[in-house]
Amino acid sequence: WWRDVEPAPKDPILGVTEAFLADPSPNKVNVGVGAYRDDNGKPVVLECVREAERRIAGNLNMEYLPMGGSIKMVEETLKLAYGENSDLIKDKRIAAVQALSGTGACRLFADFQKRFSPDSQIYIPVPTWANHHNIWRDAHVPQNTFRYYHPGTKGLDFDSMMDDIKNAPNGSFFLLHACAHNPTGVDPSEEQWREISQQFKVKGHFAFFDMAYQGFASGDPERDARSIRIFLEDGHLIGCSQSYAKNMGLYGQRVGCLSVVCEDEKQAVAVKSQLQQLARPMYSNPPVHGALIVSIILSDPDLKKLWLKEVKGMADRIIGMRTALRENLEKLGSPLSWEHITNQIGMFCFSGMAPEQVDRLTKDYHIYMTRNGRVSMAGVTTGNVGYLANAIHEVTKS
Ligand code: LMR
Repeated sequence: WWRDVEPAPKDPILGVTEAFLADPSPNKVNVGVGAYRDDNGKPVVLECVREAERRIAGNLNMEYLPMGGSIKMVEETLKLAYGENSDLIKDKRIAAVQALSGTGACRLFADFQKRFSPDSQIYIPVPTWANHHNIWRDAHVPQNTFRYYHPGTKGLDFDSMMDDIKNAPNGSFFLLHACAHNPTGVDPSEEQWREISQQFKVKGHFAFFDMAYQGFASGDPERDARSIRIFLEDGHLIGCSQSYAKNMGLYGQRVGCLSVVCEDEKQAVAVKSQLQQLARPMYSNPPVHGALIVSIILSDPDLKKLWLKEVKGMADRIIGMRTALRENLEKLGSPLSWEHITNQIGMFCFSGMAPEQVDRLTKDYHIYMTRNGRVSMAGVTTGNVGYLANAIHEVTKS
């Protein structure tokens, strides 16, 4: 039956974790996958999550959730993206379903796009999270790209981005990272978001926001939703993918949300029913445990406060490690500028290292990262930052 099946290529991100786990070296360092670690390099379960689990213990039945998932979880999640007092929420204009984290939300949207706008394509930033390409490819939506990052400045290539937005056919679909762009750590400023939103208006483009890192850019989820709020103020009908993998540390629970802003309540009911129809033959209905954790935390003011404090704690530790990595490289007398380490934000530093330099880091120093030179700052600790800086210096100095 399967004689012609060739092995699939390794995933550029999760393949790094596999290689790291297989390495017996005691010095090994994993700055590949975007998963938060504490200063001892250990995975973290947030205290608010522990408390929610204590409350669940013994009280959870294992019944199916509806096809659209937990209504309570979705309600609380929409407030984070659209605002506590959003008129869109009050007017029931948002079609929203629980999704299998950010990947599941993006995939559900891509399938929805294919079904209801079958001739459309999606404009994706260069670069982007590698899985975005897989998601829209498997949904059979043709892909186009727009310029985003400038390798020279290691910052935003705003002018080229605006040109590409202007030159795309009217009414195009664009994938935007709401905050803490992955992999570059480079976001537009508030002023630039306003200009982007205005240009989207002129062109009648549709913005789909992937918000996988809400809270990780500024330490404050409310502030990190600015890009989306600007689009909403301008009256855009957007789509949005949200995930609790990073900001609640619920990676393996696969809990997130897909939302689509509609013209009115009637349209929202129709769109939601179609999203559910897409989910039913794929996975029927989403898992219950993570959704319950999220609803308990966000609907209890004290637990929500604790969560916000813990998100800020994670973001602050990463910011501290940015400073430490840059300082260590500068102390070693690196001839290169490492300013971008502290300029970039969120979980990643797009170091500018070439794939061959990354290969040397792995081979000679047992340091694991994606070959595009992305460093997951969440994996950097007080204990390994000196070793990491030294290795980076060695492979980049000549
Ligand atoms: C990452 O970019 O490292 C994360 O989003 C994990 C993943 O699924 O790729």
